[in-house]
Formats: sequence, C-alpha cells, structure tokens
Amino acid sequence: MTTILGLSGSLRKASFNSALLRASLDLAPDGVTVEIGSIADVPLYNADDEARDGLPAAVQILQQQLATADALLLATPEYNNGIPGVFKNALDWMSRGEGGTAFRGKPVAVIGASPGGFGTTLAQAHWLPILRTLGTRPWFGAKLMVSRAGAVIEDGELKDEKIRAQLRDFLAGFAASF
Ligand code: FNR
Repeated sequence: MTTILGLSGSLRKASFNSALLRASLDLAPDGVTVEIGSIADVPLYNADDEARDGLPAAVQILQQQLATADALLLATPEYNNGIPGVFKNALDWMSRGEGGTAFRGKPVAVIGASPGGFGTTLAQAHWLPILRTLGTRPWFGAKLMVSRAGAVIEDGELKDEKIRAQLRDFLAGFAASF
C-alpha cells in the first residue's frame, strides 16, 4: 500500500483547502491511501524553545507521518500572493532535527484552492524554493489550481464533478510517478 501524507495550510474549519484535501481520500487511485496530518497544534517556531524543549509533540507526529509516507501532498491557501505563515511555520518546524531528513528525496505535489480567480498560482510557485531547499522531489506532471472555490466546494465538500475528475487524475499521475 502506498501512502501519501496530506497537509492543509489552513486552520479554519470551513477551509476550501482542507475540503480539497479531504476529497483526495475518496479520489486516490486503488492501492493508494491519503493520510491527512494536522498542523493545528504546531506552535510558532522559536529557536530558544527548540533548544530548551526539543521538538513539540505535534511536530514529532508530523515528522513520523512524513517518514512513513511515500509522498507528501500540500494543499496550500494563498495569502498576499504567498504561502500563509502558519503553513510555512509548520514545515520549518518539521525540517528541524533528525526527523527533518525525511523530506530528502520525498516526492511532493502542491494543490490549492482560493475564492478568487487565480487558484493559488502564486502560493504554489512560492513553495518551489522551499521544496528545493528541503531536498524534496517536487512533481510537476499536472497542476491543480482551484479558483472560485466557493462555487465548487459546498458545506466542506468538493461537489464539482469536473474538479473531482481533475483531482482524481492529479492523484493518479502523482502516485504513478514514485
Ligand atoms: C487572503 N486571500 C487571498 N486569496 C488569493 O487568492 N490571493 C491572495 O493573495 C490572498 N490574500 C489573502 C490574505 C489574507 C491575510 C487572507 C486572510 C486571505 C483569500 C484566501 O484565498 C481565502 O481566505 C481562502 O478561503 C483561504 O483558504 P482556506 O482557509 O479556505 O483554505
């Protein structure tokens, strides 16, 4: 069984990006399981806290999930044309200590949803230097930028059949790449 760790970069309950990620649970190809991790309990990175206490429990859990997963899927919101701070903060913590080596060589794909017309294009591009620095293997075989998210995601569920098909194809292509 192939496992993809999915992380959403939004903390809000009605998040479009978390809904998009949840849809991948049903749309992953046979033999592939998406396991959704949570960044909700990751504190703000502070090197003094790290030196004193080591890695927070929430970060250790994420590192373990990453280490055992075959690949990583990021569902990123876009804030001010870039990555939301909470999402970057979580990956910064995850990159620390021995567990941070789990990023190396890991296949990573990025998807995203926004209520506007550009579907997180700039946030997805913003991830690239970070994924390179972490030594990951970013997958560029397809793009999924969900614009006008309010029209395709209702009550926390991805309803739009066209986008569901795009996500299904995206996951199949990504899983076939590793
Ligand atoms: C936004 N939003 C936004 N959207 C976008 O497409 N480009 C942008 O640059 C921004 N900038 C931005 C800044 C800040 C501080 C906030 C709070 C929001 C809107 C954003 O896409 C919207 O809130 C989404 O709903 C966030 O994703 P989730 O929480 O639905 O997953």
